[in-house]
Amino acid sequence: MAESLVVSGTTKKERYESLLPQIKTLVEDEKDFIANISNIIASLKYGMNFLWVGIYFVKQHELVLGPFQGPVACTRIALGRGVCGTAWKEKKTMIVNDIDKFPGHIVCSSDSKSEIVIPCFKNGGVFSVLDIDSDKLNDFDETDKQYLEKIVLIIETL
Ligand code: SME
Repeated sequence: MAESLVVSGTTKKERYESLLPQIKTLVEDEKDFIANISNIIASLKYGMNFLWVGIYFVKQHELVLGPFQGPVACTRIALGRGVCGTAWKEKKTMIVNDIDKFPGHIVCSSDSKSEIVIPCFKNGGVFSVLDIDSDKLNDFDETDKQYLEKIVLIIETL
């Protein structure tokens, strides 16, 4: 297993291209879900330099906080609430360019300015959401969506 990541490139696309195969290598020989998801989250946090990266798991009728990197966060989110609960309800990736303009946004860190949330599916339903916050406005675009959805495909097979 690789013990450290080396993420090269100046553009976001180059950095994701550099990171993706390293994430695949990181998880390929390990069977433990929590170990693998924790390493994927750390890879995204430090490889892409985001403010906050974490996963919420669907447990009964709400999302419950799982492994994350970054400031402490809210632990439970109801279906349809905030960006995470909306991504879960609508079963689609949500990009919020300015969190102050998203009605019902749940503030976990006052440094957070924009956010992307990608649902993870198993057996046709959402079992978790990958949540990423940035301290910059408009920090997420179609490139993030494209690569983060690829990373979610890896999470779905862990
Ligand atoms: N902002 C999220 C809550 C989770 S934190 O960002 C870690 C939301 O509105 O769902």
